[in-house]
Amino acid sequence: MDKIPTQPSTPSASGGTAAVSRRRLLAGGALTVGSALAGAGIGAAAATGSGEASGPARRQDDATYGTQKVAFHGRHQAGIATPAQAHAVFLGFDLAREVDRAGLGRMMRLLTDDAARLTQGEPALADTEGELAVLPARLTVTFGFGPGLFRAAGLEDQRPASLAPLPRFPMDRIQDRFSGGDLLVQICADDPLTVAHAQRMLTKDARTFARLRWTQRGFRRGRGIQDDGTTQRNLMGQLDGTANPAPGGDVFTRAVWSDAGPDWLRGGGTTLVLRRIRMELETWDAADTRAKEFTVGRRLATGAPLTGTAETDLPDFDAKDELGFPVISEFAHIRLARVSEDRQRIFRRPYNYDDAPAADGRPDTGLLFASFQRDIGEQFLPIQRNLAASDLLNQWTTPVGSAVFAVPPGCTPGGWIGESLLG
Ligand code: HEM
Repeated sequence: MDKIPTQPSTPSASGGTAAVSRRRLLAGGALTVGSALAGAGIGAAAATGSGEASGPARRQDDATYGTQKVAFHGRHQAGIATPAQAHAVFLGFDLAREVDRAGLGRMMRLLTDDAARLTQGEPALADTEGELAVLPARLTVTFGFGPGLFRAAGLEDQRPASLAPLPRFPMDRIQDRFSGGDLLVQICADDPLTVAHAQRMLTKDARTFARLRWTQRGFRRGRGIQDDGTTQRNLMGQLDGTANPAPGGDVFTRAVWSDAGPDWLRGGGTTLVLRRIRMELETWDAADTRAKEFTVGRRLATGAPLTGTAETDLPDFDAKDELGFPVISEFAHIRLARVSEDRQRIFRRPYNYDDAPAADGRPDTGLLFASFQRDIGEQFLPIQRNLAASDLLNQWTTPVGSAVFAVPPGCTPGGWIGESLLG
């Protein structure tokens, strides 16, 4: 299981040791009052009332998630191998017509500076709500460059060969309002207020150079709701992420970090495919558990493959049932999405979305399917083609947005994201 990397924050007057001891004091006080009331036979009704929480109490001292930081500087941008935070927003920008390579450099210096500060719990320059910056809650800001950015910069020859809008697949119902974009800003944190503040600051500073094309918000379970490292569930109820390469491991390194293509991307960079995939929950709800499990090839309750009992059991694609049919169908999602070579794997870092329902009450729900891989053409596309051809899941999922980005390497203090391309 991946452990969430944390950096202990320095105790401060506003939230450190002093605050903890105040909390302890208050907790102690509350106990005394509580015991006194109990002694007097008062409060029994309240204790069993609907406002009471059940289960083991969480100590207030544990509430340190807000101050946790993820390092901004490094060989890779944060927000890729970082264990997924609870909240995310993906912002797609179109560059203003007059923005050239020099303008892009100015923009990326500015946005890098904002991101470097905000992720470390410091206000951005000219931050009008600096108070909101003090709880970064593992904030990460990740930048990506769409195909149009290379044209604007006059650097077409530096565009990774397979960085181009994806072809249309038969099940696609792609809408422009969720697709394309010259610049991506992916903002993730364990707190939605932190995400909103970072979004505002970055959008403000990008405004001179680019126009916001789309905003896509996503979420996972809240931090602290279950153990860190637990596989997330998507809104179809499935455990989603089981067979991902483990961040930091050899397979992840070879599958995700670019080791070919243009020099500026090599070593620390990668690519991102963002697909907005609507879930057809009304008809999914009509399917029974067996059909749902047959579709994916894994069990809903445990995430175990249909040929095993635990989530981490390897699927046995050769196993047959008593009638001689494959236990994991020829058309099951996990069979068609599986690749034989580790280098061909993709790293999925999806978020759920659940937007305002249609007027008739139909849900607008699905997955912001974010996939990182060193090369879109060699990794993502073959899997997507396989799925498009015969995945049973296609009956209940409809891609409605599609965008691709090259994700530059990280930078050192004093450097900026994109410097190896635009500098
Ligand atoms: C809304 C759409 C989708 C849903 C609900 C979904 C759901 C799932 C589930 C439940 C699993 C099994 C557990 C796991 O290993 O994570 C899975 C596996 C996987 N999915 Fe998807 N998926 C979707 C779209 C896609 C797309 C578009 C791709 C790539 C083009 C993809 C690639 C994969 C891969 C590579 C695996 C692991 C296969 C393996 O090696 O076992 N999925 N997905």
